Amino acid sequence: MNIKKILVQSLEESFLHLGYSIDDITLNFSNKPEIADFQCNSAFALAKKHGASPEVVATSIMANLKQDIAEVSFAKPGFINFKIKDKILSEVLNSAIADVKLGLEELPDEEKLKVVMDYGGANVAKELHIGHLRSPVIGESLARLYKILGNEVITDTHLGDWGLQMGLTIAQLQDDGYVDGYFDKSKKNKEITLDTLNEEYPKASKRKCEDEEFKKKAEIYTKFVQDKKDPYWQIYETIRNISVERIKANYEKLNCFFDLWYGESTSAGLVEPVVQMFIDQGLTRTHEGALVVDVAREGENIPIEKKNPDDTQMYKNPMPPVYLKKSNGADVYDTTDIATIYQRNRDFNPDKIMYVVDKRQAVHFEHCFRAVKMAGISPESQELQFVGYGTINGTDGKPFKTRSGDTIKLEDIINLICSGAEKKLSNNGISETENLALDIGVAAMKFGDLSNDPFKDYVFDIDKFASFEGKTGPYIQYTGARINSLLKKAKLTDKLDYLEALKLISIADQNQRNIAINFIKLQESYLTSYKNTSLSPLCNSLYDFASSYSKFYNDTRILTEQDEAKKNSYLALSLLVLKAIKQASDVLAFVIPEKM
Ligand code: ARG
Repeated sequence: MNIKKILVQSLEESFLHLGYSIDDITLNFSNKPEIADFQCNSAFALAKKHGASPEVVATSIMANLKQDIAEVSFAKPGFINFKIKDKILSEVLNSAIADVKLGLEELPDEEKLKVVMDYGGANVAKELHIGHLRSPVIGESLARLYKILGNEVITDTHLGDWGLQMGLTIAQLQDDGYVDGYFDKSKKNKEITLDTLNEEYPKASKRKCEDEEFKKKAEIYTKFVQDKKDPYWQIYETIRNISVERIKANYEKLNCFFDLWYGESTSAGLVEPVVQMFIDQGLTRTHEGALVVDVAREGENIPIEKKNPDDTQMYKNPMPPVYLKKSNGADVYDTTDIATIYQRNRDFNPDKIMYVVDKRQAVHFEHCFRAVKMAGISPESQELQFVGYGTINGTDGKPFKTRSGDTIKLEDIINLICSGAEKKLSNNGISETENLALDIGVAAMKFGDLSNDPFKDYVFDIDKFASFEGKTGPYIQYTGARINSLLKKAKLTDKLDYLEALKLISIADQNQRNIAINFIKLQESYLTSYKNTSLSPLCNSLYDFASSYSKFYNDTRILTEQDEAKKNSYLALSLLVLKAIKQASDVLAFVIPEKM
């Protein structure tokens, strides 16, 4: 039963009867739960429109309402209040508990989409760092949110595995004698491990700024890899495998799992035909030896007159051209992303492709999106959505760095959140296992991130995030774990399964009413999160929901209740809360521990 829908329908009938436009209907959750659950404020706007008093309008709307799920009352000067009957709230909860999806409605069939989601974006040979944390966190949850609402989702981590870092690493490995055997069969190779890569790439990356010759060599090697030339290609594959194994392990710790482990290299074979499509349609020109496509629209990229002839050319509303080929013929980031859109459309024909990437890459994606639409690689009807996320800052408000000012590695962050969680656990006298600390740490970090809108920067404050009180992941986990042990103590965990719990809940007091209304809000927040492309509404509603249960839990003697029917109602209500918390935390991609 969708309570809000029923109320809106009855308002619609009343409005139509009175000759009011149904576009003027507003129905919101009331912020005074003691008085009302829902509130309709339409009378004010209608009164203005029709030159009557809000009170007269409101009373006539009320007189024409046909519904029997709520008590309706008037509040001066023009509010219509709805208080849902306890019996109806009980019915809502009892039917939710009997449903696998807890009554959560999917999108209407015609709105369901097939979506390719591109997130993660780790780079082969380069260490994962803090800049890579938000993409898997936000992306995984958006993917799960899309799925639970009935969309078909294909997730692809789109590894950065086709860029200069490949050539740089190979050149450095060669100089340090790791790959001699690849070039000369009489020689031996040294074992390459992840640690090797973690040393060699940064070394090479630094060297390329000081050593022009080395940089040139790396560029040539990159091109060799892109041409699949041996032994460069073989060395590349070795590096890729070592990297991918570690990347997978780290993502799994964060509860991120991908359908596809494709990368920039996957569409490499499509670059030539795709570039040809641009050439054939006359969309390209050469610029200083490179092949480019102009995508600027009217009013963009207007040259600003130089003061001195030597000044760099500046532009008003800059929108530089898209580079398809560098002057040395190598593919660039734009090219592989464009070819990837071609590949995804060929293989999956999705309604939408969504990218969860650092917001500083906005221009890159705008480039690719414009280019593929121009060339007809993406059909007009296809939505290409860039979800750009903001920076993770430290408590000092500046981008989060190590004490020495270096970028923090992802593994170090995972360790940091675990030790933050361990500290809280030992403060609370809970003996912990490594897994529990990881589960709590991940929830702390995820909730801390996802309760903000993606595009906003946020402050990474693990002490605050890991607290068991307040709007945090561990608080949600704690509420769930508490119910777990309650149900265990009641020895009803097994007995109270879906069907047996049916019709057990009987809402009887304000605390229970609050749980019921917050449950309805929680189930509604999935759609709000979906529409906003932000998990923040879900996080907020989940917190309110968990808090409403805590109040009930603290005020009610559950296990010692003598009246069997009441006790069963309390337990069934608790079970529903647990299930709803699990459903939401599953979308947020953290787990609810058995005990905490
Ligand atoms: N590897 C890129 C980076 O580290 C992110 C990839 C994002 N996805 C994409 N299709 N470009 O910045």
